[in-house]
Amino acid sequence: MIHVTKTYLPDIKKYKHYVDKIYQNGRVTNNGPLLVELEEKLADYLGVKHIVLVSNGTAALEIAYRTLDLNGFAITSPFSFVATTSSLVTNSILPIFADINPQTFNIEADNIEALCTPHTRAIVPVHVFGNACEVEKIAQIAQRLNLKVVYDAAHAFNVRFKGNSILNYGDISTLSFHATKLFHTIEGGALVINDDDLVQKARYLINFGIENAESIPELGINAKMNEFEAAMGLCMLEEMHLIEEKRAEIYSYYQQELNGFVQFQQLNSDASNNYSYFPVVFENEKQLLAVQADLNAHNIFPRRYFYPSLNTLSYIEPRQKCPISEGISDKVLCLPIFSELENNFQKIIINTIKAKVGLQSG
Ligand SMILES: Cc1ncc(COP(=O)(O)O)c(C=O)c1O
Repeated sequence: MIHVTKTYLPDIKKYKHYVDKIYQNGRVTNNGPLLVELEEKLADYLGVKHIVLVSNGTAALEIAYRTLDLNGFAITSPFSFVATTSSLVTNSILPIFADINPQTFNIEADNIEALCTPHTRAIVPVHVFGNACEVEKIAQIAQRLNLKVVYDAAHAFNVRFKGNSILNYGDISTLSFHATKLFHTIEGGALVINDDDLVQKARYLINFGIENAESIPELGINAKMNEFEAAMGLCMLEEMHLIEEKRAEIYSYYQQELNGFVQFQQLNSDASNNYSYFPVVFENEKQLLAVQADLNAHNIFPRRYFYPSLNTLSYIEPRQKCPISEGISDKVLCLPIFSELENNFQKIIINTIKAKVGLQSG
């Protein structure tokens, strides 16, 4: 069975080597040596000043909002994974959705300002499928209106913008290291923070608000990453070049073969591609469902991602309309992309789409 992604499992000998270390020193969590090593190596690899590892990408978003003391309203993208919005709601921040650009699938920067009110405190854009947002425009808006910016960079591992890490934009960027992601730690996530004081605050917040045995200065939660997860991250990091190489090949083949049959995501020309997803947009939902059914018959399961558009979630009040996001959500499918995807399966996927799309539009 082929799913949209398959968890990459690095060389087991390497992983065992780290597990042996954990058994020898007896440290399994609470800022252990492997976590410290992974933070240092990741900061260096990604080109960022501070990285704080946490238990998952959703916790990273929640800790980011708490670190910045956010409340009130936040302008965000309706075209994202549910955690971008649900993390705001659980922290009593009202999401206000700015519709997306129909080509890039990212929040349309030009839509942000008109939605801001005196209650607006932040912008929470998403680098959708790793595609860099209009970070310079968003920085200008934030500065003019005195807003904080938290980038949900769950998909943007190792993306560069004009040669610099995309994670250095905004007040905080958050990452997800879930098993389905390009780089993973089984479960996990991270915050990239430039400000030294805020880093310290985030570190308290992920550890119940504790500073030391006698001092608890913040209202925190438990969002710590453990040593077995950090060990997985250390192994993954050593193999990232192989993973990216293979994904780039698969990505290019889809692009070459499906050009003209479906709509592709338009990528930011100032940014690098990390090949984390391959989204395609069909003419209409009926066509998408027909392709999906045919692929399922071959035991291939692409994913309707992101679906539904987050402005339509039942717990979002007041109701907000985002016709572009809703339209893309109805028609987008993420095709399988992972380093072990064999070319014969990729050919089945491509031929199925060509047959269905060609047939229906013909
Ligand atoms: C855009 C986006 N934000 C946040 C998350 C949440 O990350 P996690 O699953 O690690 O909690 C995900 C996970 O898929 C995501 O895709």
